[in-house]
Formats: sequence, structure tokens, C-alpha cells
Amino acid sequence: MSRSQPQTYYLRSFGCQMNDHDAERIAGVLEGMGMCRVASPEEGDILVFNTCSIREKADTRLAGHLSLAGRLKKEDPGKLISVTGCLAQSRREGFFADFPFVDVLVGPQSLHELPGLLEERLASGRRSSAFAETTSSWSADLPRVRVDGPLAWVQIVAGCSNFCSYCIVPHVRGPEASRPAEAIVREVEGLVAAGVREVTLLGQNVNAYGAEPGYVGDISFPMLLEKVCSVPGVERVRFMTSHPKDVSADLIRMLAEPNQVCEHLHLPVQSGSDRILSAMRRGYGRKAYLDLVRRLRHEVPTLSLTTDLIVAFPGESEEDFEDTLTLVEECAFDAAYTFIYSPRPGTTAAALPGRLPAGLAEDRLKRLVAVVQGQALEANQALIGRRMSVLVERPSRQDPKVMMGRTRGHKPVNFAGHARSGELVDVEVLEATSTSLRGRQAI
Ligand code: 5AD
Ligand code: SF4
Repeated sequence: MSRSQPQTYYLRSFGCQMNDHDAERIAGVLEGMGMCRVASPEEGDILVFNTCSIREKADTRLAGHLSLAGRLKKEDPGKLISVTGCLAQSRREGFFADFPFVDVLVGPQSLHELPGLLEERLASGRRSSAFAETTSSWSADLPRVRVDGPLAWVQIVAGCSNFCSYCIVPHVRGPEASRPAEAIVREVEGLVAAGVREVTLLGQNVNAYGAEPGYVGDISFPMLLEKVCSVPGVERVRFMTSHPKDVSADLIRMLAEPNQVCEHLHLPVQSGSDRILSAMRRGYGRKAYLDLVRRLRHEVPTLSLTTDLIVAFPGESEEDFEDTLTLVEECAFDAAYTFIYSPRPGTTAAALPGRLPAGLAEDRLKRLVAVVQGQALEANQALIGRRMSVLVERPSRQDPKVMMGRTRGHKPVNFAGHARSGELVDVEVLEATSTSLRGRQAI
């Protein structure tokens, strides 16, 4: 075969679970073109970087990977380099100016165009790109290459229509679009037939499922959950991410009832200050969030609650920050992802005055992380002595005699025992850190 017919691909994905899921589709598309995956960029005929643009750090990391790819292409000009994902969509053709050796650019709504664009580049030598603004063709309907195992992601909503003032997602992934329920159910059935026992329904805001204008179906997110639960063989159902303003009584009921829906809610609060929440355009205030958490704790006593928090949003005062600390203390989160605000070009917050110095931002992050870790440790230690249902995922990376799985609350558990991947077992919790549990298989 000639050098111009690529046979191998190297794929590296950055960022969130949605991007990792898109990467499964990119792999499916490339394997559909007859290519095999390789582990290093040196070996690949095509190098694909599936990018993230949520924070500036992601840009700088990518630049390092791309400059290596550029050096490799100098040595071997037959290599093709493609940049896919959110950063490609946000920078568009500007990318070609910064990285002239890039051949193909594809935004997250245009992954189905990847084969055609690669072929065009090979045939005509022209650099090519595709940046659809809305979701008209679902990447979730493309072929997929999935790591074997009992867990799988299922995309149910693409894009986001919330336009939180700091967030680039609605600008790069377009407006909310709900995937037809029949396609979701069909995919879940196929996954179960392939050995999957737990599905995680993915969307930037899953609670808005079916709510966008023009959506043809008439089912809400809790109704979709019921449908997915009724697929024979589904043992566990998870979902993320939930927006606090869209949590309904029916959703709480689905979490509370004995069914396959795991008692875990990822409910990003971002800040505890009303002033900052309003500047972030989150659509709820501190009291509404705290009331919701109180209700959730009351109705779902075993709920594991996790969140996202941003410090040093423009204009955040010490008092605002302390409001975040006290909210976190009241909520007793099981875990939290904490971020320093990062201005994203094109978002409204990027134009706000009152940027905070990096040193102050880092100091606040440290103070917040200390509170979050203390809470997580307490929540995990409260499980010592309990017997918990664990879905076994794989042998532990440190010790292959130890297995790793997760509780229904999504906590990782390492335990000694003879369980196999995909089995549901009871584990007695013996020890806890702020990030994981240790136990032994109960008999
Ligand atoms: N700066 C810092 N964190 C951000 N996030 C989203 N945009 C930004 C930004 N510009 C965080 C939010 C969101 C999570 C996925 O990333 O906390 O919930
Ligand atoms: Fe971004 Fe807000 Fe949409 Fe989440 S809900 S993706 S933070 S705009």
C-alpha cells in the first residue's frame, strides 16, 4: 500500500468524559477506514488530538503535544495531523495559522466528516476543516471502539443552552439537543448484549433532556431513566451532569426508589455567593441550592453528592469566597472538583473587570481543597464497617491481586477477593481515605 494510504492512527483525548466518549467514536471512524491504533505518535500514520477548551491549562498542554507532532512530521512528511474537539471548534482556521503543519480540523459536531476530510487531504493535498454549529448528526450514532469492560457511556444530550458566563461549552458544542429515546434504548440494549452492566448517561445538562424547543419526543429525563432501567440486564444506571435549576421531584423519586439508578448526584454549585452566582448566570441562588441539598438528603439518605467549584471568578471578594466555604461545609459533599477561574475568549465573563491575582487565586484554591478533602474523608470514614454493593471493574493498578470496583455512590473501592470484572459483590469497608475505600469481599 502506498504511503499516502494511512494504516495506523494515534489518538490522544483531553478533557471531560464527553470528549473521551467522542474519542471512542473517532477511533470507530478511523478503524472503519481500515486503520489500527498504535500507542505512540512516532508509530502513527495519522495523529489525532481530541482537544478540550474548558480552561487555559488545556491549551498549553496541547501546544506541547502538537509541537512534538510537528517535529515528527518534519522527519516523516507523510504523517497526517488532525485536531478535533472543542479547541478546534473555538479557534477554527486560526489553528492553521498557529500550527501550519496541522492537516485537518474537525469540531465536535462534525466528527462524522472526519473520513471525508482525511480523504480530501490525501487526494488533493488541501487542508480541510468542518465546524457545524449545531448537532444534526449524532457522533453517538457513529461506530465506536470501546475498552472492554462492564461500564459504558451513552450520550443523551449534546451541547448546552445555559450560557453560564464563564463557560465556553455552549459556544463550541452548540445549543442543547436531545437524542431520540429509541436510539438511546437501542444503544443500551446493544451494550448489555456486549457484556455491559452499568451505563452512564452523558450530557452537559442531562436534566434538560427533551426540554429544548422543537424536540419531537415527549419524554422527560426521569421518564428516560425509567426506560433505560427497564432494559433487561442493566444493573446500574448513572448520569451526569445535572444542573441544580433543573432537578425535578420526579428525578429525586428515581434516585430514592429501589431501582437501578445509583444514589449519586453530581450537582455543580460553582460558588456559594449569591453575588457571584448571579454574575455567573447560574439561574439559582445560595438558598435554593441549600434547600435542594436538604431535600435530597432527606429523601435519599444514602445519596453521594459531588460538585464542581470555581474560585477567583472576576470580582470575587474574600466575603464571597467565605460564602463558598460555608456552603461547602453545610452540604457535606462526598467529593468536589475545584478549579481556578480561567478566562475563555468569547465568553461574557472574560470581559468582566476585577480579575484576581494568581497568588490569591491559588491561596483560595488551597483553602477550599482543605475543606473539601476534610469532608470527603469524613464521608468515607463513615462507611467503615459497612457492607456495600460493589461492581467490579478491574484489577488494581498497584497490585493485581487486589480488585477495584465502585459503590453505588461512585466511590472507588480496592478489595481483596476472588471477584471478576463485571460481577456485583458485597464488600466490607475496612479503611477510608478522602478519595477511596479499602475493604474485603464479604462472604
Ligand atoms: N474556568 C474555570 N472552571 C471552569 N469550568 C467551566 N468553565 C470554567 C472556566 N472558565 C468548570 C465548572 C464546570 C466544570 C466542568 O468546569 O466548574 O462545572
Ligand atoms: Fe457550561 Fe453552564 Fe452549560 Fe455546564 S451548564 S456546560 S457550566 S454553560
